[in-house]
Amino acid sequence: MSDMGDSIGFIGLGQLGLPLAANLLQAGYPLRVYNRTSSKAEPLLEQGAQRATQPADAARAGGVVITLVWDDAALESVVTSAGFLERLGHGGVHLSMSTVLPATAEKLAALHAQHGSTYVEAPIFGRPEAAVAHQLWIPVSGPDHAKERVRPLLQAMGAQGIFDFGEAVGVAALVKLIGNFLITSAGYSMSEALQVAEKAGVDPKAVVDMLTSTLFAAPIYQSYGRRIAEGNPPFSPNGLAIPRKDVGLLRQTAEAVQSPTPIAHLLSGFLSGEAATV
Ligand SMILES: NC(=O)c1ccc[n+]([C@@H]2O[C@H](COP(=O)([O-])OP(=O)(O)OC[C@H]3O[C@@H](n4cnc5c(N)ncnc54)[C@H](OP(=O)(O)O)[C@@H]3O)[C@@H](O)[C@H]2O)c1
Repeated sequence: MSDMGDSIGFIGLGQLGLPLAANLLQAGYPLRVYNRTSSKAEPLLEQGAQRATQPADAARAGGVVITLVWDDAALESVVTSAGFLERLGHGGVHLSMSTVLPATAEKLAALHAQHGSTYVEAPIFGRPEAAVAHQLWIPVSGPDHAKERVRPLLQAMGAQGIFDFGEAVGVAALVKLIGNFLITSAGYSMSEALQVAEKAGVDPKAVVDMLTSTLFAAPIYQSYGRRIAEGNPPFSPNGLAIPRKDVGLLRQTAEAVQSPTPIAHLLSGFLSGEAATV
């Protein structure tokens, strides 16, 4: 089914939602947009989007609705809000892009199934600037028919790569949590390593230049390396909310499958300010 002519619902116009929705409009998809704080929809209304006044208004029978809200509680409140599941109804697809627990994804997928609609998850690797530049990496999981239907939307929203993790809901959510845990670990370990260099009188920039052009030639080490070598902490005070939330979700998920997380435990301490920060 092509969704090009039908309008797509988009719920959650925060830092990441706004550029993704704008990309869809620019690609020619008509949009109905909802945000809890309605003023954030203004830039999209100016570009031709229609305003939805509640989450259910963003959904259409058998259509696609995309959500990109902050966390598990926000996502659950959207899905269980008055009329949302009933309006989306049979054949509808909920493309969920927030970073949430696999258990939340499973629970919401079951609720959708009771109403004849399908939950498919596609959490995002990439910041708002990467969305604007169409440089997002996106793992997806969920029923094949729904993944096929949302693939053109993911491309239009800025995916440079889409990775299919099968039909079981919760797998892409887990991949995202693992990725964010590794990103956070890289930030703090790079910070600790370069502090040793600096205190020993070795130029951190030279260390970063060599390591990130050879054995650690990965975007994450390169960007954190540059940032830290220039004297900045790995995460700005405003940038702590996402790693704090996501390391917590990784720990909860690991606990559910009885997998130990000593490093994530340490990171939670840094991120909450309880342990000495590096
Ligand atoms: N920013 C990034 O670099 C980035 C990168 C990858 C993944 N992510 C993930 O993407 C998701 C969105 O992140 P963001 O950076 O766009 O966050 P954000 O700027 O804080 O926006 C959060 C959005 O969620 C909405 N929201 C929060 N609580 C709600 C509730 N109870 N009911 C309805 N809506 C609610 C907010 O509405 P209001 O405007 O009314 O507050 C806003 O639209 C998160 O899961 C995040 O982990 C973010």
